[in-house]
Amino acid sequence: MQKVLNKFVLKFESKSTFGSYFYKKSFLKSALNKLPTLRPNKRLVPATLAVLIQCAALLSVAITTWTVIFASAYFGLSLNISIFTLVLMQALAAATLSYLAGMASWWRWIHLCFPLAAWLLYQWHIPNVIYLVGFIISLSLFWTTFRTQVPFFPSRPVVWHQVASIIPQESPVRLIDIGSGLGDMSMYMAKTRPDSQIEGIEIAPLPWMISYIRAKFRRSSAKFILGNYQALDFAKYDVIFAYLSPAAMRLLWDKASKEMRSGTLLISLEFEIPDVPETTRIPSNKNTPEIYVWQIP
Ligand SMILES: C[S@@+](CC[C@H](N)C(=O)[O-])C[C@H]1O[C@@H](n2cnc3c(N)ncnc32)[C@H](O)[C@@H]1O
Repeated sequence: MQKVLNKFVLKFESKSTFGSYFYKKSFLKSALNKLPTLRPNKRLVPATLAVLIQCAALLSVAITTWTVIFASAYFGLSLNISIFTLVLMQALAAATLSYLAGMASWWRWIHLCFPLAAWLLYQWHIPNVIYLVGFIISLSLFWTTFRTQVPFFPSRPVVWHQVASIIPQESPVRLIDIGSGLGDMSMYMAKTRPDSQIEGIEIAPLPWMISYIRAKFRRSSAKFILGNYQALDFAKYDVIFAYLSPAAMRLLWDKASKEMRSGTLLISLEFEIPDVPETTRIPSNKNTPEIYVWQIP
């Protein structure tokens, strides 16, 4: 928290003379230094920062609007500010704050579009129950994304063929898809490698439940576990398949390099591990992203 606020203030300082003066002279610097360290060694996840930014934007729009209304009343003017103007102010303020806070560029677009999209939906008078259903479905699919920063999106059959051709053929393997989603990848592997033990672990309850039920219906030998792959012992597996996100790769490597046995394979679809050269890379084509393979030394 302290780090983010410091970064915010330093940006503010470097971008304006007023900011620089304010920071050097004022309470802000000493107040920041006195802030308790709320979560040592932990950074705010982007989603939390995004919520804080929308709240800060709302506050700044409210203060600006009230100031303008009071000032115009003082001068005997009556001022009407439309809802759309307020929404536009909220969108612009949030996008600017997200830029100043150093969030990734796509977050600026999310901040800009979110209030406008909410306003548009409000105009369409959509029944409240639709929002509730959408919220519950999104929550069950994505509720852990907030923490893991890995959203759900499935890989495609062409990728499963490629992965099947990479893994050792001569003897049975124990393979796990960490973040198995709806389970298609694991069920495909279980079908093509009946000699092997295939598992999937998924942290979000709804996709896990769907994969579990589908495996029962299809009589697949793939086993699905509900849980966090960080709690697994990677030493038990010959192949670990991951389709996660850039944010997860460093932690994944820390765990894999400590626990995986020599000669076993870590396979990542699309996302590389910063500063860790892969053993093999299958280049992307119009149907698949790149596949990275690390053979543990
Ligand atoms: C991009 S999807 C990949 C789905 C599947 N592997 C496939 O290839 O179709 C990533 C999945 O990983 C899950 N996930 C993210 N972090 C996880 C964790 N720490 N433990 C288990 N699953 C996780 C997410 O909920 C999401 O369903």
